[in-house]
Amino acid sequence: MTDLRKDFPILQDRDYIYFDNAATSMRPVAVTDAMTRFNETVNSNPMRGLYEWSIKATDAYESARAKVAKFIGAKSAEEIIFTRNATESLNLIAYSYGRAFVEEGDEIVVSVSEHHSNILPWQMVAREKGAKLVWLECAPDGSYSDEELAKIGPRTKVVAIAQVSNVLGQPKDIKKIAALAHENGAVIVADGAQAAPHMAVNVQEMDADFYVFSGHKMLGPMGIGVCYGKKKLLEKMPPFLTGGEMIEYVTRESATYAEVPHKFEAGTVNASGAVGLAAAIDYLENVGFDFITKQEEKLTALLMDEMSRIPYVTVYGDKDPSKHCGIVTFNIEGCHPHDVSSILDADKVCIRAGHHCAQPLMQYMKVNATCRASLYFYNTEDEVFRFAKSLAKVREELGYGS
Ligand SMILES: Cc1ncc(COP(=O)(O)O)c(C=O)c1O
Repeated sequence: MTDLRKDFPILQDRDYIYFDNAATSMRPVAVTDAMTRFNETVNSNPMRGLYEWSIKATDAYESARAKVAKFIGAKSAEEIIFTRNATESLNLIAYSYGRAFVEEGDEIVVSVSEHHSNILPWQMVAREKGAKLVWLECAPDGSYSDEELAKIGPRTKVVAIAQVSNVLGQPKDIKKIAALAHENGAVIVADGAQAAPHMAVNVQEMDADFYVFSGHKMLGPMGIGVCYGKKKLLEKMPPFLTGGEMIEYVTRESATYAEVPHKFEAGTVNASGAVGLAAAIDYLENVGFDFITKQEEKLTALLMDEMSRIPYVTVYGDKDPSKHCGIVTFNIEGCHPHDVSSILDADKVCIRAGHHCAQPLMQYMKVNATCRASLYFYNTEDEVFRFAKSLAKVREELGYGS
């Protein structure tokens, strides 16, 4: 672990404990170097120029696409659309697929534990098309029972569900839910923002129709995201954004569009971001998901054990640390999460406090806000102990007796 941490310049500041990895992760030097190399050697507009630099920029961008395709087990690179982030990917699917194929009276199934990014686009489609949002209610551990999943029925057109909740961390069996969606003639949109950084993903094996994630949560840069879609679906979908680079031919009155995936990538693309994401994938694959999972489970178990010894702390979700994907959401009785976060910040401990862009889940959990500590493989046991020590004094700092 000491060796791996050396790859992350920001983690060399031992004073800080960074437990907000579900919000964004840190970047190893391999990622920033790859981006710097791109910027300092071939930076020019990909796909536009017929000169060497532009051709090299195009090659770097398309190689990154091929790398992402392999990383998630897509059939071909044409099924990978680069976006800004998971949110834009979900909007792309809703605006394009949703508006074209959802009709009045249809149902869109979403889960109560979704991030707002996988709720609001579907609210928009439902409102515009006269469709109905059907909610899957989760159990307190964040799982979905077969009775809830039976809400996926013949009227369902879209099932929008996260593979891992950003609040409860509970991983879902996307393959099983995809099968239910397909039996009913619906498509499944799987939000992998909290899954792709932590586990091996194979979109063909899970039979996901769409799968989205963000580069910045998996060691990559901010501003690059991925929207995977089965080619046969992408081909029949209208464009999301229009303009330069996504066309085949334009007249004064109309246009024909480029083939997928370029049909969905209007304007100048984030080529250095794609190069950074490709370097992040190389790094993750080098470390290996076996190690990543093992390390996260070990740290999560220790964290939950330490927290269980602190009075007045409630941890939400599954009792089993291996069902958290490194995410531990909690509250301290009588303490506002913002106060908890500020007190921890004074000890240089970074956690997230608030509704985590999951207000329907907060309403379901009957809380306004929670604290969330989220780990990644580069965190350490020592950090867990220091976090617990800091957490243990929060109530006292807020004026409660011991
Ligand atoms: C489950 C989930 N989906 C979607 C998103 C949105 O990601 P981004 O802000 O990178 O678009 C997040 C971000 O926290 C998330 O946790």
